[in-house]
Amino acid sequence: MKKQIADLGFETLITADKIEERVKAIGVQINEDFKDTVPLIIGVLNGGFLFTADLIKQVTIPCEINFTKLASYYGGTTSTLKIREDIDLSIDIKGRDVLIIEDIVDTGNTAHYLIEKLKLKEPASLTMCSLLLKPAALQKKIEELKYIGFEIGNEFVVGYGLDYKEMGRNLADIYKKVN
Ligand code: IMP
Repeated sequence: MKKQIADLGFETLITADKIEERVKAIGVQINEDFKDTVPLIIGVLNGGFLFTADLIKQVTIPCEINFTKLASYYGGTTSTLKIREDIDLSIDIKGRDVLIIEDIVDTGNTAHYLIEKLKLKEPASLTMCSLLLKPAALQKKIEELKYIGFEIGNEFVVGYGLDYKEMGRNLADIYKKVN
């Protein structure tokens, strides 16, 4: 399906059904991998809000949930490499098994920044889950990235939490920009 968002045209890349199926499968993996602990799940806003909400409904083991808010795109379609921290994590993560939930890892700079920052707070372990990964855009290896929903090409996407100029976050499917 085609969509116009602000000045750009988009077409469907991943349907809501496929997302739901993948989210369920990741939930099963998390339940198994964290069954001997009470993980502290940290959702990264804004882009990760829908994925975090859907994923934690599949997490049936005891867990805690918190959020942090980072911004790195500033409304364009390419990474600016500048990261702005809008909401800092207010809780103590020392000694906790932390699972970070991201919407997308593009260059990897945001993930790297967040992981390095959280490491200073001495968690027992740090694991990352990202709905999307753009392997061709990755500039830094993220060892902590254990769960990946979908690998996509080096293309700009919106929907299911992801935005273009703050629009499109509400879309149930994920769309890619058409040239
Ligand atoms: P990175 O630092 O380059 O890995 O970019 C990570 C952040 O940029 C993500 O958390 C998103 O907020 C944003 N981002 C990266 N790629 C896209 C995209 O294709 N669409 C919308 N936002 C994106």
